[in-house]
Amino acid sequence: MIKETDFLVIGSGIAGLSFALKVAEHGKVVLISKTNLEESNTKYAQGGIAAVTYKPDNFEKHVQDTLIAGDGLCNKEVVEMVVREAPAQIQQLIDWGVDFDQNESGKYDLGKEGGHSENRVLHSKDKTGEEIQLSLVDKVKNHKNIEVLENHFAVDIITQHHLGKLVKRSHNNTECYGAYVLDLKTDKVNTFLAKTTLISTGGTGNLYDTTTNPKIATGDGIAMVYRAKGIIENMEFIQFHPTSLYNPGEKPSFLITEALRGFGAILKTTDSSEFMKKYDKRGSLAPRDIVARAIDHEMKITGNDHVILDCSHLDPEKLKDHFPNISEKCKSLGIDITKDPIPVIPAAHYMCGGIKVDENGASTINQLYAVGEVSSTGLHGANRLASNSLSEAVVYANRAAKDSIRRLNQIRIHSQIPEWDAHGTTYPEEMIMITQNYKEVQQIMSNYVGIVRSNLRLERALKRLAIIYKETEELYEKSILSQKLCELRNLINVGYLIIKMAKDLHESRGLHYTIDYPKKGLISEF
Ligand code: FAD
Ligand code: SIN
Repeated sequence: MIKETDFLVIGSGIAGLSFALKVAEHGKVVLISKTNLEESNTKYAQGGIAAVTYKPDNFEKHVQDTLIAGDGLCNKEVVEMVVREAPAQIQQLIDWGVDFDQNESGKYDLGKEGGHSENRVLHSKDKTGEEIQLSLVDKVKNHKNIEVLENHFAVDIITQHHLGKLVKRSHNNTECYGAYVLDLKTDKVNTFLAKTTLISTGGTGNLYDTTTNPKIATGDGIAMVYRAKGIIENMEFIQFHPTSLYNPGEKPSFLITEALRGFGAILKTTDSSEFMKKYDKRGSLAPRDIVARAIDHEMKITGNDHVILDCSHLDPEKLKDHFPNISEKCKSLGIDITKDPIPVIPAAHYMCGGIKVDENGASTINQLYAVGEVSSTGLHGANRLASNSLSEAVVYANRAAKDSIRRLNQIRIHSQIPEWDAHGTTYPEEMIMITQNYKEVQQIMSNYVGIVRSNLRLERALKRLAIIYKETEELYEKSILSQKLCELRNLINVGYLIIKMAKDLHESRGLHYTIDYPKKGLISEF
């Protein structure tokens, strides 16, 4: 089957949905999502979306906080642009029906998170992501120019390579004609041709066995663009969220928002000793890389499986009112957050790097844009400031929409694309080969490419991954495609990129910490 459209949007989180709503005024949109439209990292966002709203906050402070968190690797022009454009795009979300909490005087209730010098995080209690996701899904479902296809899995983007031409990463004339898409109901791979393609497939958390990310986050977009010879960058900067709920066996790990620490909760070891001030004068609200590393260090010293978050000194009614989701979740496990310590551990949370894009979200492949967590814009540098990713997604969705609308009339749909060749493939005899390799990849990455790294660990990870890569490629060549097999292949590709880039960075910076190049300085040398 061949399908043609003006805009092909791959992914239904905040990035894909907001882009689709903007371009749908100018052409036909096909939006695909690999499970249902609602499922995404966006849906699980808790703390909120960062932007300058009221004095005493100002753009300069938000810019400085972002640059400091990014540890010298942010692109300052991009930071300034995103900070300045975020308020208007948040207003756009509000116009689309997103409801952010307000206080008694009718002003937005602004939360505070690690690394922010002011309260600047708009939120909907502690379920901000769900509020955004459901509001945008509702708009998209009711838009006459948007065709939604759930249970459709993008396998690869289509370029000149599929016409038998040589495509190289160093070339700047690679063009994207759409994508091959696996219909998960029929197991058939169909050809989707588009004038413009947007990759908004989100993050990569499932590379690790402890992650806050739902199952969909398997780095598909990054792997597709890497295979298509687009440029990928900054992959060594994986953000571990310091505080996910310690509840062994639960996947994904339930997040305990940083906004709770912004509200006054304090990190302690299990014997109730405060420890963060030893590492950073900002204590429990230091930037994430520092807090996650400090927790990792304390767990290693004490031999305990977790640390604790103490809220017992906070006003119980206000606490439950601000954090109903966390309160309910903990209650279901017998934890009363107004009295009992919450056991927490770090968990893989966010990919700072990804598909290299310009100021309009355009990738290094023509007619291909990347927006949201899948992209590397230069905003986050070596460590993302909390709640900056939702702002980045809406600012870049708007820019990519404008840029692609401007170019739309210059592009024609390519009609000579061959259909997917499934000749000679069969269903894999044993799914265990796929599920076992998936777990092994997670173990390799968790054990050797986690919060603290070393040359030896990275080298070992690369060797182990190479074996699984070979096995998986052999299986892929002869198999009728399945979602699990494609996801495994993508995770291996992404894991490889992380290890390679981590090996190439001969220093500790932001989220990349290696004992072979310890960071000199007052607070980070632990
Ligand atoms: P996603 O929302 O992840 O959407 C990706 C979409 O792509 C999904 O629909 C998925 O099904 C689809 N997809 C993936 N692969 C394919 C494929 N091959 N084919 C078809 N479809 C595909 N950030 C903040 O700024 N503030 C917060 O408070 C915050 N809290 C967070 C809490 C949690 C628990 C998590 C996990 C993240 C949080 N983040 C937060 C990060 C933020 O939520 C994400 O970075 C952001 O939502 C990503 O949006 P996105 O649109 O890029 O991707
Ligand atoms: C949180 O609520 O702590 C997550 C915020 C983020 O990841 O930006």
